[in-house]
Amino acid sequence: MVADLLLTGGAGFIGVNLVRWWLEHNEGDRIVVLDSMTYAGNLQSLDGILDDPRLEFVHGDIRDTELVERLLTDNKLDTIVHLAAESHVDRSIEGPDEFIDTNVVGTHSLLKAARNTWQQEGGSWKPHRFHHVSTDEVYGSLTSDDPAFEEETPYAPNSPYSASKAASDHLVRAYHHTFGLQVTTTNCSNNYGPYQFPEKLIPLMLMNILGGKPLPVYGDGMNIRDWLYVDDHCRGIELAIKSGVSGETYCIGGNNERTNIEIVRALCSMVQNRIEGNQDLKDRFPNSPASSGSSNEELITYVKDRPGHDLRYAINAEKASRELGYRPAETFESGFGRTVDWYLENETWWTAVMDGTYKDWIETNYESR
Ligand code: NAD
Ligand code: DAU
Repeated sequence: MVADLLLTGGAGFIGVNLVRWWLEHNEGDRIVVLDSMTYAGNLQSLDGILDDPRLEFVHGDIRDTELVERLLTDNKLDTIVHLAAESHVDRSIEGPDEFIDTNVVGTHSLLKAARNTWQQEGGSWKPHRFHHVSTDEVYGSLTSDDPAFEEETPYAPNSPYSASKAASDHLVRAYHHTFGLQVTTTNCSNNYGPYQFPEKLIPLMLMNILGGKPLPVYGDGMNIRDWLYVDDHCRGIELAIKSGVSGETYCIGGNNERTNIEIVRALCSMVQNRIEGNQDLKDRFPNSPASSGSSNEELITYVKDRPGHDLRYAINAEKASRELGYRPAETFESGFGRTVDWYLENETWWTAVMDGTYKDWIETNYESR
């Protein structure tokens, strides 16, 4: 099946991994990436594939309905994969407005553009698919004994971020039910892997271990997340688009429930093992405790808890497994090992992100549309 995609948020963490995944696994497809380049968008993450003739980057906003209609029509695109969002819970607590504007109003704008373009006079539809990427956070918080989230779990979002994602899920559902738009939705757990912005737990902790800075663990560190390697998420999205039934939702997880403190300790120990006995890493990261024979765990610092902090997320991916053949390929050890190695090998990427260098590069390379 050949598809031509509009991929929103394709310069963000999951987006760049999905662009790479899709082009590698779907040789005949074309992708138009639409991204407004917020602080989280980074074209350097697409280095090496930006000149692939199958890929076009458009600097623009999902709230620009006319632009989206033009992109869908001019490029004869038949599939939207919608990832663009404000995605960080802490930022949504500091300032919820952008979350409503992008995640709710933006998703609605995209749905309108899809309907305006793909529904023909008389009401019939051109062949199409709107795939919406959502989160397990819409289901709220679990106790340690609760069964994992599944597709039928009632919505109970607790943060402005998860409430905005829940609203977007409902709009997608409503456009299917009322107007007949062909939609699928995936709700997945915490992603990790290459190119993740260092505000999220894993890259933040890695940067701080390497820089010898405190590792801020919220509360008692006993909150639990189900960690999903980003390529496994990409596999789940591809399966849902290709084999999923319109109107259906699929939960995608990693089968990797861990407390936050377990994650932080595992990262400390993985970096410790790589630095010990490796003079090159000691020279590159002299402030990391491991470089001077101390333990990285000395950096662990318990800090004030996140307001409304959800205790536990866990995904039951049984439906995706049964109906789509989804199965995560990475274990905790393999996925985390690959991730630690990627950040060690790609210091130029994350130092540029941290000092903002790439923003100037974007301004000189791309005009706004
Ligand atoms: P991210 O914050 O890294 O990237 C978001 C991207 O969207 C950025 O490139 C940003 O520039 C772009 N964007 C923001 N507002 C836009 C707008 N108005 N128009 C066009 N582009 C805009 O996010 P991510 O971690 O890659 O997450 C992608 C999607 O997956 C989000 O919808 C998120 O809710 C969902 N999700 C993420 C995770 C996770 O663990 N990261 C888990 C579950 C679901
Ligand atoms: O569950 C899916 C969600 O996972 C996605 O929908 C979100 O877009 C994504 O950001 C992520 O949300 P979390 O809030 O779970 O991820 P975060 O990396 O911010 O935090 C993971 C856990 O680590 C959480 O319990 C808070 C804790 N934490 C986080 C940071 C940044 C810390 O203890 N210290 C920190 O400095």
